[in-house]
Amino acid sequence: LEFTVTERADRASDDARAKILADPGFGNYFTDHMVRIAWDAASGWHDAAVSAYEPFQLDPAAAVLHYAQEIFEGMKAYRHADGSVWTFRPEANAARFARSATRLALPVLPEADFIESLKQLTSIDKSWVPEAADGGEASLYLRPFMFASEAFLGVRPAKSVTFSVIASPAGAYFGGGGVKPVNLWISTDYARAGEGGTGNAKCGGNYASSLAGQLEGIAAGCDQAVFLDSSTHTYIEELGGMNLFLVYRDGRIVTPELTGTILEGVTRSSILELAKELGLSPEERRIPIQEWKDAAAAGELAEVFACGTAAVVTPVGELRWEGGSCDHRREGHTDEVATRIRGTLLDIQYGRAEDTHGWLTRL
Ligand code: COI
Repeated sequence: LEFTVTERADRASDDARAKILADPGFGNYFTDHMVRIAWDAASGWHDAAVSAYEPFQLDPAAAVLHYAQEIFEGMKAYRHADGSVWTFRPEANAARFARSATRLALPVLPEADFIESLKQLTSIDKSWVPEAADGGEASLYLRPFMFASEAFLGVRPAKSVTFSVIASPAGAYFGGGGVKPVNLWISTDYARAGEGGTGNAKCGGNYASSLAGQLEGIAAGCDQAVFLDSSTHTYIEELGGMNLFLVYRDGRIVTPELTGTILEGVTRSSILELAKELGLSPEERRIPIQEWKDAAAAGELAEVFACGTAAVVTPVGELRWEGGSCDHRREGHTDEVATRIRGTLLDIQYGRAEDTHGWLTRL
């Protein structure tokens, strides 16, 4: 596709932008431009454009507002010391976006167009890519998404669809800067996804269905909920917006296997590769929630951490459930493995370590 730049806009002054970049938080501010590509059943993908960031004109009958036919991705642009801007494994996100599209009966956007749309937006909004302080994680979060824009209330795949990319400068996902641990609540009333459902697609509906569990967790003094498998309520799945890893004192590092009901995280798969190189023994398998409780009680569990593009690697403080808890913050706790993996990943992403896996793409 050929992109046209229909308008240059500077919504924020240099001063205003500098203030935002100094403390962006997560998801609060958006850059000057956006990408849009239209699709319809008769002519396929067309009208690829970079324009000023602005609200969509959406018909109240647009199918996405009624039946949630929508998917998205989360990626980051990193500024290296020489000023160049890079992203991490965009082919993996493009491939997952294509799988999500197929699951939600949306059209597949070719990988080349997906990646070009990221390049178009980051090149026009390059001044919005923050410089990362040493050990910091400032980046420009990229949010490609696609939704059913056809005005039609029958339930069938939409015949007109919009693809878009917006960008948002980002610091740490969980405020407070850097590696603040999160406390988790085991949600027993709610599941996030079921067998044959959309659990492994990155669609808005999965995130909507995680919110009631998250509220339950917040009411119990936690930050996030851990969801278990919906059929037996026995096995750990994920947090709704992040995957989980358990780290044993003997060097095993275990994450739930991909059963179709959890998101195939790009950070998750990168950590599985890095863990081997760091001398750990990665395992993907079913993990009973009871194993977590027992291993913590027996002192065999060294750490638990959550991971994702937005949250990078975030240690888990406490696990709570109805009538009990286990605390990973006992004396002498260092989050050594989480910190090491986080550092290794960030060093690659920011160009401070050699990219031996070929994970970086210049934007
Ligand atoms: C991510 O980009 O890491 C997500 O999964 C989306 C959301 C948790 C911000």
